[in-house]
Amino acid sequence: MSVAVQDKKQLVVPPPQGRSTGITVDHAEGSWFYTSDGEKWLDMVMGIAVVNTGYSHPKVLAAAQAQMEKMVHAQMALFYNQPAMDLAEKVCEIVPGNMDRVLYANSGAEAVENAVKLAKQATRRPATIAFQGAFHGRTHLTMALTCSKTIYRGHFEPLAGGIFHSPYCYPYRTPRGEDPTDWALSRLDFVLRSQIVPDDVAAILVEPIQGEGGFVVPTKEFMQALRKKADEIGALLIIDEIQAGMGRTGKWFCHEYCDVTADIVTIAKGIASGFPLSAIVSRADIYDKHSPGSLGGTFGGNLVSLAAGIATIDAMRDEGMVENAARQGEKLRAALRDLQKDYPQMGEVRGLGLMDAVEFVVPGTNKEPNASFAKKVIGECVKHKMLILGCGYYDNCVRFLPALNITDADLDTAIGIFSDAVKVAAAS
Ligand SMILES: Cc1ncc(COP(=O)(O)O)c(C=O)c1O
Repeated sequence: MSVAVQDKKQLVVPPPQGRSTGITVDHAEGSWFYTSDGEKWLDMVMGIAVVNTGYSHPKVLAAAQAQMEKMVHAQMALFYNQPAMDLAEKVCEIVPGNMDRVLYANSGAEAVENAVKLAKQATRRPATIAFQGAFHGRTHLTMALTCSKTIYRGHFEPLAGGIFHSPYCYPYRTPRGEDPTDWALSRLDFVLRSQIVPDDVAAILVEPIQGEGGFVVPTKEFMQALRKKADEIGALLIIDEIQAGMGRTGKWFCHEYCDVTADIVTIAKGIASGFPLSAIVSRADIYDKHSPGSLGGTFGGNLVSLAAGIATIDAMRDEGMVENAARQGEKLRAALRDLQKDYPQMGEVRGLGLMDAVEFVVPGTNKEPNASFAKKVIGECVKHKMLILGCGYYDNCVRFLPALNITDADLDTAIGIFSDAVKVAAAS
């Protein structure tokens, strides 16, 4: 070691890797985790929409353990394996559209990278349209697609080219007097008129709810218009379901709410309950245009992760977790809207299923973002041992991402802690 390290925590890269607490976690079960000091915490984050089936789900653990006994790694470029085929079959059953091809990778960013590469090669076109406020990852290509905050891009220029951003459909922050759908679409048309010719566009890449951008729920008409626009200009529609997918919003995939189908869907986070895995789901007519060997990687589709992915979907189906997410989400938003009546700082409560947020504003202003209030609320929750995260371009939103099988009692506890936190923040 080149320097004396007093505290071993310093060895684990801060500060470029942000960290919201100083605690050290030890083990976890369901919606709760335990620190190395023996504290018990309620988790409203679940690894940022990853451990959707709750920590240590017995069926997921058993499947992973059984797979470990048989074989851990089977390089996808060398041979087929049964878990890869079985999970692909299940994924194609739950993803809307006639999907019949699945490529596995390890992370969300890798999935988006591969989706864009797939679209470029399939269309032989160079450009991608993404949206302001989007988060698609931190690798070199995905940070160029990401623009939810400058911290993800700052001091990394030059970024990958061929990427054009248009405003997202953000009903709460649409300029006064404008229709949210029409306004966002008119901006997209402007991008296609002023910055990139339509027949250079390989893909329109969109989150069905913006995640890091503030859990912004677009209109159904906006998503439908993107489908139509992609068809009109001969581009592919990539829907990034990395945070919103896998049951999170009360449907298997969030874009089911909009009655649209994508050409390519990216999935990661919740697909394997915490084992690293992502999937780029599409159709044969798109994948068949690719040159062999141009996509892939050493670890993509790890066998243990695949087994965990199969068990995740089975457990979610057997235990009605998607339905629970829809029901508990309604209950959560109703409680938050009740609270909102007494606190004008709560500018908007929004979300679908268990992907919900409160956007805080300064009372009496024209929706001036109130990041300090959001920070106080998070701080108060943390004091009461409930982990919850912020989001939003202005850091003025607080988001809820509980386990999809959260119980009524645990959600009531979370609502109670959050309500008290808002009360204390408003009084300070
Ligand atoms: C919508 C979306 N896309 C992509 C990513 C990147 O995923 P990863 O952190 O696994 O690379 C994220 C992560 O938060 C995300 O929310």
